[in-house]
Amino acid sequence: MPTYNLLPFDSPEALALAAANAWVDEIAKAHSAGKNYSVALSGGRFVQTFFAITVEVARARSVSFDHVHFFWADERCVPPASPDSNYKLAQDIIFTPLNIPPANIHRLRGELDPEIAVQQAITELAQIIPPGTAGLPALDLVQLGLGEDGHIASLFPNASPEIINCPASFLAVYDSPKPPPRRISLSYAAIANARQVWVLTSGASKAEAMAESLRPDGKTPFARLLKSKPGLTIFCHLPKINT
Ligand code: 6PG
Repeated sequence: MPTYNLLPFDSPEALALAAANAWVDEIAKAHSAGKNYSVALSGGRFVQTFFAITVEVARARSVSFDHVHFFWADERCVPPASPDSNYKLAQDIIFTPLNIPPANIHRLRGELDPEIAVQQAITELAQIIPPGTAGLPALDLVQLGLGEDGHIASLFPNASPEIINCPASFLAVYDSPKPPPRRISLSYAAIANARQVWVLTSGASKAEAMAESLRPDGKTPFARLLKSKPGLTIFCHLPKINT
């Protein structure tokens, strides 16, 4: 039976504010301990609200992000200036407003051949976070959205065994049902190896995917992650779901 920490909210704004404060808490704790902090971001619609509120919270609480290293849970294979780029989304909403040092931004090279970009991402992540006993770097936090089909990052239903069982930290996707088809994604193993995994999801369109994922026999990509990552936290604003 997968275990998780489900935090329900009455609105997207309440969810985003709670998640933003929780994230800034973690960043402040790392700063107090004199440690760097590593996070992998996701893309999509909801994160735009979440990122914007995070900037407001960071400024209101005067919490520095200078020790935060930014990675991505996934990236679309598009140029960094593309409106579809998850990097551009974060650049516009978080990095520029908070003046994040470019050396702390480790974007996935969506403009390159996916296999080349994957190898560069694996190398760069391991340079910043030395692999642990599991042979994978342990990110402090992976932030995920949830797709209507139960996907997380760019890990979609009906993926091949090579994708599902990929032992490396990143992998290439060529058949994403969510455009664009070519993407780079953290692997299931790398996400499960993170110290914390948060899923942030809002909207009636996600209710069935969430309900299906939380069922003990759930078959979605999120259900698969839940089985390998007990104790992850779900910040959700969804109509009542029958789990
Ligand atoms: C992406 C995302 C993807 C997203 C979910 C939720 O690159 O598309 O990383 O995993 O987080 O699809 O997206 P919405 O918030 O737009 O529903």
